[in-house]
Amino acid sequence: MPVPDHSQYIHGSHPEEQARLSLMNQVMNPRCLAAIGLRGGERVLDVASGLGQLTRALRQAAGPNGAALGIERDLAQLAQAQALAAAEGQAQAVEFRQGSALTLPLQPKEWGSFDVAHTRFLLEHLPDPLPVVQQMAAAVRPGGRVFLADDDHEMLFCCPEPPGFMAVWRAYCRTYDRLGNDPYIGRRLPGLLHEAGLAQLRNGFIFFGGCHGQPEFALLCQNLHGILVGAREPILQTFAFTEGYFEQALRDFMAWAATPGAALWYPICYAEGVRPA
Ligand SMILES: C[S@@+](CC[C@H](N)C(=O)[O-])C[C@H]1O[C@@H](n2cnc3c(N)ncnc32)[C@H](O)[C@@H]1O
Repeated sequence: MPVPDHSQYIHGSHPEEQARLSLMNQVMNPRCLAAIGLRGGERVLDVASGLGQLTRALRQAAGPNGAALGIERDLAQLAQAQALAAAEGQAQAVEFRQGSALTLPLQPKEWGSFDVAHTRFLLEHLPDPLPVVQQMAAAVRPGGRVFLADDDHEMLFCCPEPPGFMAVWRAYCRTYDRLGNDPYIGRRLPGLLHEAGLAQLRNGFIFFGGCHGQPEFALLCQNLHGILVGAREPILQTFAFTEGYFEQALRDFMAWAATPGAALWYPICYAEGVRPA
C-alpha cells in the first residue's frame, strides 16, 4: 500500500554532490554489476536512479532485448541523468521518470512485469524502508528478483586510523538517526526482503575499499571526503566537536590517503530475493 513520502535526503543534488556521486558510480558500478549478475534480456527497474549511470549500465548489461526504467524523486538529479545520457549518445537508452520510491509511478500494466527491481544507497535515507521494498516486490513478475544494495556505516574502518576521523564518521552516522534514518541498514536487507514476502534470499558484500597504491584508492578517499564535506552542517550540529576539529580531521584524512600502507575497509551490503510464483 503506497504511503506518503516525508523522507529527507541528506546529500542533496547540488553540483559538487553530483560530481561526487558521479565519481562514486565510476568506481562502484562494475563491482555492483558483477553482484547483480544480469544474464541478458531483463527488464530492469532502478529505484532512486540518481544520475542514471548505473541504470544505463544495467540496461547495457541486459543486452539488445533488455530495457530499463529509472525512478528518481529529485528533478535536478533527473535533469543531470538526462544530460549525462545525452552526452554519451544514450539519450534513448533508458527511460527516466520522476516519482517517489514510496509510491512508484508505474502504469497498471507495469506492475508485476519487471524481471529485476534494483535500488542502491536509498534505503539508508528512509525512516521506514519496508514499504519501498514491498513496492519493488509488487513491481517484479513472479520469479523476478529484488536486489538491494546499501551502506552499513559501522563496517567502515581505516588502518592506520587517521586522527579524528572516526569521531567525525560517528557524528556523520548520528545525522542519520536524527532524521529517523538508519546508517546501519545494510545488515537489515535480508530481513526487509523476507518481510516483503520474497524468497530464495542471498546476501553478500560489494567491496568499496582499497589501499594506497591501487589506482582507485584516491577516488575512494575523495568520495568519503566529499560525503563528509557535504554533510558539514548536520555533522557540526551534533556538537560532538568544534568546527576546527572537523576541518583538521578532514585535512588529516586526506594526508592519510596519500600515505603508503593506508588501507580503507568499506564493504557495501547487498541482498536479493525472488518473488514467489
Ligand atoms: C545516494 S543517491 C544514489 C543514486 C543511485 N542509486 C546510485 O547509486 O548512484 C540516492 C538517490 O535517491 C534519491 N531519493 C532519495 N529519496 C528518494 C525517494 N523517497 N524516492 C525516490 N528517490 C529518492 C535521491 O534524490 C538520490 O538521487
